[in-house]
Amino acid sequence: MTCPECGTENPETARFCNGCAAPLTPVETAPAQRKVVTVLFCDVTGSTSLGEQLDPEALRHVMAGYFATARAAIERHGGTVEKFIGDAVMAVFGIPVVHEDDALRAVRAAIELRDAVEIDVRIGVNTGEVVTGGADTLVTGDAVNVAARLEQGAATGEVLIGSHTYALVRDAVDADLLPPLEVKGKSSALTAYRVRSLSGAHGRRNATPMVGRAHELESLDRAFERAVRDSTCHLFTILGNAGVGKSRLVDEFLAHVAGATVLRGRCLSYGEGITYWSLVEILKQLSSLPDDVAIRRPLAVLLGELDIPTTPAETAWAARKALEIAAVNEPMIVVFDDIQWGEPVFLDLIEHVADMSRGAPILLLCMARPELLEVRAGWGGGKLNATTVLLEGLDPDDTDALVELLLGEGDPMLAHRIREAAGGNPLFVEEMVELARESGGEVAVPPTIHALLAARLDSLPAAERAVLGRAAVEGQVFHRGAVAALGPDELQVDSRLGSLVRKELVRPDAPSLPREDAYRFRHLLIRDAAYDALPKETRVDLHERFAAWLDEYGADLVELDEIVGYHLEQASAYAAELGTPDPARSTRAAERLAAAATRAEDRGDSGAASNLLRRALDLSEVAAGRRPELLLRYGRVLVHAGPLDVAEDVLREAADIGDGVTAALARALLENVRALRGEASNAEVLPALQAAVDELEHLGDRGALAEALTLLALVQFWSGQLAEQRGTAERALTYAREAGNPTVELAAIRELGTAMIWSDTPWPEIERVCQERLSEVERLGSRVVAAALDPLSRAAAARGDFDEGRRLLAEATRINEELGIAMAATTLLMEAGYMEIHAGDLVAAERHLRAGWEGLARLNEEGIRSTVGALLAEVVARQGRLEEAEQIVGEAEQLGADDDFVTIAQALLARGLIASKRGDHDRGAELARRALAIVDDSEYLPLHVEFRIGLAEVLVDAGRRDDAERLLREAIVLAEAKEDLVLARRGRTVLEHATASPTTPD
Ligand SMILES: Nc1ncnc2c1ncn2[C@@H]1O[C@H](COP(=O)(O)OP(=O)(O)O)[C@@H](O)[C@H]1O
Ligand SMILES: [Mg+2]
Repeated sequence: MTCPECGTENPETARFCNGCAAPLTPVETAPAQRKVVTVLFCDVTGSTSLGEQLDPEALRHVMAGYFATARAAIERHGGTVEKFIGDAVMAVFGIPVVHEDDALRAVRAAIELRDAVEIDVRIGVNTGEVVTGGADTLVTGDAVNVAARLEQGAATGEVLIGSHTYALVRDAVDADLLPPLEVKGKSSALTAYRVRSLSGAHGRRNATPMVGRAHELESLDRAFERAVRDSTCHLFTILGNAGVGKSRLVDEFLAHVAGATVLRGRCLSYGEGITYWSLVEILKQLSSLPDDVAIRRPLAVLLGELDIPTTPAETAWAARKALEIAAVNEPMIVVFDDIQWGEPVFLDLIEHVADMSRGAPILLLCMARPELLEVRAGWGGGKLNATTVLLEGLDPDDTDALVELLLGEGDPMLAHRIREAAGGNPLFVEEMVELARESGGEVAVPPTIHALLAARLDSLPAAERAVLGRAAVEGQVFHRGAVAALGPDELQVDSRLGSLVRKELVRPDAPSLPREDAYRFRHLLIRDAAYDALPKETRVDLHERFAAWLDEYGADLVELDEIVGYHLEQASAYAAELGTPDPARSTRAAERLAAAATRAEDRGDSGAASNLLRRALDLSEVAAGRRPELLLRYGRVLVHAGPLDVAEDVLREAADIGDGVTAALARALLENVRALRGEASNAEVLPALQAAVDELEHLGDRGALAEALTLLALVQFWSGQLAEQRGTAERALTYAREAGNPTVELAAIRELGTAMIWSDTPWPEIERVCQERLSEVERLGSRVVAAALDPLSRAAAARGDFDEGRRLLAEATRINEELGIAMAATTLLMEAGYMEIHAGDLVAAERHLRAGWEGLARLNEEGIRSTVGALLAEVVARQGRLEEAEQIVGEAEQLGADDDFVTIAQALLARGLIASKRGDHDRGAELARRALAIVDDSEYLPLHVEFRIGLAEVLVDAGRRDDAERLLREAIVLAEAKEDLVLARRGRTVLEHATASPTTPD
């Protein structure tokens, strides 16, 4: 006997269903019944030729696989396989149990089936009235014939649906109307739609007609028209309180707009640290990603398909490019809901697209509660291509109209009270009318929407309320499987959900997990009300169960760790409040949050990483053994993202309570922070770093050793110990590769680059090494290109090929800007300054250096800025503007650290030049000589050459030709050792000038 509740076949003698334990009332034969069902036909195309190609045994194997796959797909979506007719499969959705969304289930099953089977099929789906039961258990009726005809009319790989089916699923699928199908045996032609794909939209039309909002709709239309006409991007933001009608306005707009691809994403109300959820949703809706690897790579990282380091700016750039490319074919509307919950990096991304997008019609349509302005006061401000509207409550006339539409000829007193309490909020009106209808008599009107929703849920049967509570734990969109897993005692999940759908509390929606059905709370406030009604003890249990369920079924989710971590974190927090902490669970929560932080770090999303790590650390009962490592990681993120004083405290604690590798690495980072903050000199920091390195070497952890070595290399560079730095960086590189840590590998590559540029390594060797690096872009991302281009540009300039040097440098700058590494981009201006000094164009050199001098000030940077200032002073002095040069050099000296010898020497040389040009040759020579002595103490070979030439020039002016000649000959020898043709040539030019000039007798 078939169970009427769940459809399980039971032995005829059974009194309770084996599947769901519902009581089985024996009936002689089920009476014949008329029902609306959806019928699916699927047939194999080209089966004859398949038979010719394949060995009969192989063919049998293939066909068996096809039948099994088809059956699985159909049953997963709640359908029943009626019969196999030759190679064709006929299935029915709606027997023995009718679902609210049988039509959509059938279409989903059809698409899944088509994509899953190994052979070519064509499918027809149709909805209509049939007769079932009676003596004949098969369904019969015209609807069945139509489904078969649609299947026969489909081409290979197509899913055709009839007009009734289309009417039921039109909001959930993208489908094209076909020319009428002429069918034999039927008087009129058939209307058929070809399904392109499932869209993410709701599975159902809004029941209530729309009132008002004509003005807002018009301005949306105008914004879209402008975007299309001018092929530009427009940012349209709708602000408004919950329930006021933002989503409805957007639905209404989208329902009548024609000729646009619509992508939808929403920000999650929980789990800060989930940065890209909505972008991932959007990307999955694009039919394909661009072929260009530069675009594809960061997006693949986002989709969890690739594991290389990227940065938020690179991600934003790639997302923009992908949208622009997709919008070339058809205008694009990208809808983001609830962006008040978006992470800063995500909001930056939207603004980046709005600011930078060119040549493609894109409407960015954002919805947010007014809180958005608290986190982003200037949202959309100052942009010509941005519109923000504040959606107010409905005006009294529109509210009246809505109340009347919903309440009909009801009680005028009630209508009056609803209108008064609703304050123009249509959600309030709808829910109040529904509450009144359900209670069927005298009913109090609650004062707020929250109280109203609580009352509405209270009036539900307990079992339905429980289902809603379980669903609310997952969120606004939830999966059937989760609801079932969270309440294993509830045996009628589907009928409860069906009833909640009928009551308009939830709606079928597109699932984000494979082989699942999903629903969406009609409004997030309903979800919140259902969640708020749960006792804390229940929340602990449900969050923990949900985490377990998601771990089992959500393996495909990119942000699995974030979400599972969040639910375990919630369970831990409520348990702590109840005084029943569970350290094992808290530790698991911390581990998942920390795992999520790792991915955030790889994306260069320090904000999210630091948020996730801080939350992991806040779980107070986390096993003490895990704490030091979490502290170390949090501290490391803070070194990059700031604030540095917090980083220092966190790292100190890690060093204190940790041991072994963790403590040693924490100490190394701590020393680095102390140097950065100017709390310790290079000379003090070096031995401490060396000690940490020794210990890590002893402990044998290659990844940690590599990282500590990069920190040591940097301080060695600051100290002018370039041979040491190079050795350190080379070791760091080897270990980082062995440990498979690309971030540290990149840091090592950069250290190696600076070591080679400034030491006696000949330029051709540098070029060779850097050319090799370029081939590693696949593995290391574009940062490695930027790191290699910088030395390559200098090498080209050293050959005298300034055009090539400028080109490479511009390319490196562009990449750094795209990667959002403002510091690096600005620092490269110093390189550009050097380039023009060598090319002999002082005006251009001054322009670059001045831009760097000002740019670094904006970034609050001092270490590099002081050096740039001193160099700028020299360039200004050489152009004869002595007063101005003197003033700049003074500022640079102020900024420079006490042990920043490059700045000190460069400032002395600038002062020497100034003195000499003012006629005080002796003082000039004295200052320049002191400058040279300082750089000679370091291993900065190009400075040995340049400062010799600088001093020689002063000496020539002082008439001390012999001293000058000696210095210049040394400079030429050094420049030739470095194979720096330009510096050698400059040395010779000055030498010729020196030998030609008269000597003043002493
Ligand atoms: N102008 C309107 N006319 C009729 N019903 C509306 C209107 N605006 C909103 N609604 C209904 O009110 C409810 C809440 O609206 P919704 O758009 O979800 O609010 P928001 O997105 O601002 O939170 C929905 O059920 C919606 O259909
Ligand atoms: Mg909404």
